[in-house]
Amino acid sequence: MTSTASMTKPPRENAPPPGATESLILAETDGAVGIIRFNRPKVLNALNPELMTQLADQLEAWDADDSLHVLLITGGDRAFAAGADIGDMAERSVVEMEQRNQFATWDRIRRVRKPIVAAVSGFALGGGCELMMMCDVVVASETAQIGQPEINLGVMPGAGGTQRLTRAVGKAVAMDMILTGRFMDAGEALQRGLVSRVVPPEHCYTEALKIARLMASKGPIALRIAKEAVNKAFESSLAEGVEYERKLFYMLFATDDQKEGMRAFVDKRRPKFEGK
Ligand code: HXC
Repeated sequence: MTSTASMTKPPRENAPPPGATESLILAETDGAVGIIRFNRPKVLNALNPELMTQLADQLEAWDADDSLHVLLITGGDRAFAAGADIGDMAERSVVEMEQRNQFATWDRIRRVRKPIVAAVSGFALGGGCELMMMCDVVVASETAQIGQPEINLGVMPGAGGTQRLTRAVGKAVAMDMILTGRFMDAGEALQRGLVSRVVPPEHCYTEALKIARLMASKGPIALRIAKEAVNKAFESSLAEGVEYERKLFYMLFATDDQKEGMRAFVDKRRPKFEGK
């Protein structure tokens, strides 16, 4: 369900009308920002496959919609998401896990080209932390508790956590988090570069929306290409990454937005980006 609203609060948690399919995410737009809120508050937004499918469907739909330039994901006050749904996985066999290929949905999210801002309050654990790390700008509330506690369940991170956390915070801290299952508070997460900003809980969502709106006022092509270039830093050597960045940088000179942005600077006026 998508609605449009000018908002200072995230989409409200709600119950579906009788007979309707349960909506595990709530979606609405604010200008050029598409906003998604997880809607499983009773289980701290545990990420079951249905929720992940709804999330990927919505993100892909918005990724293809030219009227939206930036996407924002949030949870509730108590939890961004406390991980994959443990009840859903507890009795599955290795064959069932392999056959249902749930990570295909995560791959769809990873391929979203528009920048994704995350507003993170409370728990971001396991798959919740992994999803947070797939977002591009993370605004954390002072209440955020971030971790990969899968070791307590006899497993390990499975949605990119061993790779993304290690790249983000380095081996020593990643090992500490993943092998002990300890949580990081927001201050430590900021200090270690795992989140972009920390704000008081009451400002978490509004700050994230403010950042998303600011980003949405930039040239949409440059936003997408810059995201791609930064992500390349995680997948290549420095030399390869710098070479790749240079090609993308040259490519942006084929856009009207580049001409407009630079001419506006020279003319001392605000640019009007058209996404062309
Ligand atoms: C299913 C969950 C859940 C989860 C919480 N709940 N986390 N249900 N999957 N990941 C449910 C609880 O069962 C409980 O339901 C309700 O949410 C509230 O949780 P409580 O435990 O009562 O709250 P609290 O005591 O405040 O503790 C909060 C908590 C704890 C520290 C976050 O719930 C917790 O440790 N959760 C599990 C975190 C975790 O291990 N995440 C990693 C999952 S594995 P009831 O019905 O009792 O009220 C993973 C792998 C990802 O993410 C890889 C691939 C997808």
